[in-house]
Amino acid sequence: MKIGVVGLGHVGLVTALVLADQGNMILGIDKDKKKIDMLSKGRPTLYEPGIEDLLNKNIKRFRLSISCELLSDAEVIFIIVPTPTINKSIDLTYINEALEEVSRFNKKAIIVVKSTVVPGTAKLLSERFGIKIVSNPEFTREGTAIEDTKHPDRIVIGGTDKNTLDMVESVWAFTGVPVIKTNNENAELIKYASNAFLATKISFINEIANLCEKLPGCDVDVVAEGMGLDHRIAAYFLKAGLGWGGSCFPKDTIAIVSFARDHKEKLSIIEAAIKVNQERIERTMELAKRHLGGKLKGRRIGILGISFKNDTDDVRGSQSVKLIERLVKEGAEVSVYDPVAKLETYEKQGLYKSQEECIKRSDLIIIATEWRDFSDIDKIAKGKKIIDTRRVINSVSNDIVPIGIGRLDES
Ligand code: UDX
Repeated sequence: MKIGVVGLGHVGLVTALVLADQGNMILGIDKDKKKIDMLSKGRPTLYEPGIEDLLNKNIKRFRLSISCELLSDAEVIFIIVPTPTINKSIDLTYINEALEEVSRFNKKAIIVVKSTVVPGTAKLLSERFGIKIVSNPEFTREGTAIEDTKHPDRIVIGGTDKNTLDMVESVWAFTGVPVIKTNNENAELIKYASNAFLATKISFINEIANLCEKLPGCDVDVVAEGMGLDHRIAAYFLKAGLGWGGSCFPKDTIAIVSFARDHKEKLSIIEAAIKVNQERIERTMELAKRHLGGKLKGRRIGILGISFKNDTDDVRGSQSVKLIERLVKEGAEVSVYDPVAKLETYEKQGLYKSQEECIKRSDLIIIATEWRDFSDIDKIAKGKKIIDTRRVINSVSNDIVPIGIGRLDES
């Protein structure tokens, strides 16, 4: 098939590459010329395990442009542009621009919206542009995006016309997973409800972690393991830590709460999950303060991991970045290190260091992101106090002082 993909961000690029790998011809569009130039040369524009090989393997099935003119003979066009939350509501500027541009050059293709949009949006856009829209939300995680796209748990397709739904189903037939075909509104809400549920699950275990910290003998990881073996609960997303971040959970939870309020409904559980997540930062600040003689000002603190999770260079909505900002504000002398993610502002301020230097310069180290690279830092962090928010350190030698999250702090 000739498939158009408008928006080559994280989800867009991975979707395009996986579909190219299935033998489809991909017509990729992005407004950013630098991105188009890099991709045309086989150079990935973002960090994702396996992406460079997949790009180079499929580059002959890739045509790229900054203009939707390229899409004139596409059969199916995926719209995968950002839908940010502005003033707690979803902003449709990019999706409107994309649809306007696409409809100038192609009036026959099936238009599939993969961007996350609140229920009723596909209908609204259909009316605005006089086209039928299929909703096909994505459930891929950064860091495992290629595998998640090739082997999802389910495919959700929403729309009003059976033939177009069947056509989109055929694009994803290679995955061999259950397909839910429904109307646009259900498809749109499935995405929000899924993300909000997963975020709530993490906040739930983080509250249990808080309780464990008061109870001699309790350890949140053992409690989570015991809970997760129950199939009704499942082990996923029960890892306590610094809380959830990223480009989806923070914005989607806020958007669905505010959308519900517009419909005179209060989503109390999701609101509580957001509050618990915000409190993770202050709790970690308090913990750090306790171990630094009751004050943060002038104290040397090393932060390991600035991306919002491991195996990505994405710092959007990163809890680590929020923690760093708060520590700097309190007057702490912060050094930061990440194996992949870099923030120009930190480099400019001189905060960014090598892993060794970051550790050496610090009285207290906080492992904020679950990078495998940090598993063995006990060897280079002898004698240091470490708040291991994600419990990644493998062996704990006597030379380091680990400070647990989710168990009583006896140090
Ligand atoms: C998420 C959804 O999982 C995906 O379905 C959707 O399409 C996009 O948003 P992503 O944001 O890439 O994916 O990452 P995810 O693995 O879900 O992690 C989100 C945040 O939760 C990260 O900050 C992660 O560190 C945190 N997390 C995750 C935990 O703190 N504990 C867990 O057990 C799992």
